[in-house]
Amino acid sequence: MIEARGITRTYHSRGAFTGERTVHALRGVDFTLPKGGAVAFIGESGCGKTTLGKILTGIETFDGGELVVDGVELSKLSPRKRAPYFRRIQMIHQDPYSALNPTRTIEQILGDPLRMRAKETGGASSASGVRARASELLELVGLEPDGVLPKYPHQLSGGQRQRVVIARALTVDPEVLIADEAVSMIDVSMRLGILALLHDLRERLGISLVFITHDVATARYVGEGAELHVIYRGQVIESGLTDDVIQGPVHPYTQCLLSAIPIMRGLEEPGPDRLAPLAPLDEKVATDGCLFAPRCPFATERCTAERPVLEAMGESGQLHACFHPTARRVVGVEIAQAAV
Ligand SMILES: Nc1ncnc2c1ncn2[C@@H]1O[C@H](COP(=O)(O)OP(=O)(O)OP(=O)(O)O)[C@@H](O)[C@H]1O
Ligand SMILES: [Mg+2]
Repeated sequence: MIEARGITRTYHSRGAFTGERTVHALRGVDFTLPKGGAVAFIGESGCGKTTLGKILTGIETFDGGELVVDGVELSKLSPRKRAPYFRRIQMIHQDPYSALNPTRTIEQILGDPLRMRAKETGGASSASGVRARASELLELVGLEPDGVLPKYPHQLSGGQRQRVVIARALTVDPEVLIADEAVSMIDVSMRLGILALLHDLRERLGISLVFITHDVATARYVGEGAELHVIYRGQVIESGLTDDVIQGPVHPYTQCLLSAIPIMRGLEEPGPDRLAPLAPLDEKVATDGCLFAPRCPFATERCTAERPVLEAMGESGQLHACFHPTARRVVGVEIAQAAV
């Protein structure tokens, strides 16, 4: 369905206080999303996750690489010809509170895109036809239509709003949903419900899923057989089947991410078998070497001089970009497993 090859995005900005700044938001990201499949991206704040999501939905441009959707390379097409491909890919944003227009009822919020869709496909665009389809979509996302349709967004809970956001994404019959931190702003008790819904949409409607998160426990939930890509400062530094990566991370950054899960354990002194917590990131450090080297407890001279690229480790298909890949004991993995 989607094949991304070497996607690059660099921002140049000039600020009154920061001066001229170049941010390498993405540095050559490759991945494949099969039809009906799932793929997860995980990494800390600022690593480029949202930029990738925006590129996949056509909201953001990219300056290098290829994006192939259903066998068609999109950068070769004019913006008008590209639009129908991007319409198949819908994004669910992090914040269900600002995603819905507060002055419109849920019926109006779902009605507009449904009428547009009906015009395109020759479906029913009458008021009753649109209402019936809106009800159907609300039921699909686990909401009771008669109760929800006349309401305004502020009358719904965060979890209900996120379900409405998902229903709105479904109005255009998408083939891919991009969930960008889709549960991070929702009450913990409702998160599992939304994750289960995404899972269910994948199974029932065959919708493919790109799941973007900073949270290992939710990444793990995305599904068996899904690929997990760990991003560090715009570069994928480890990837493989989700369970393989979580149970046997070989890149020190992935190991740090995993060992950072249980906060109580993070307070323990780092021992010889335990990685120290990550030091704060200094974006200004430019390096030809490994991007993680300034924070890596295992960095050597080679790491600061040369940048490792993804290579295979063993036969599992797990890839890593590290000169010292080692399966180190990671505290917290058992907690990550228990959390889902
Ligand atoms: N329009 C822009 N102009 C300049 N820099 C940008 C722009 N958009 C993003 N960036 C920078 O690109 C980098 C990646 O941003 P992005 O929003 O993709 O991160 P993220 O992984 O989604 O972070 P978070 O977890 O906080 O949402 C950041 O350093 C950010 O400051
Ligand atoms: Mg983001």
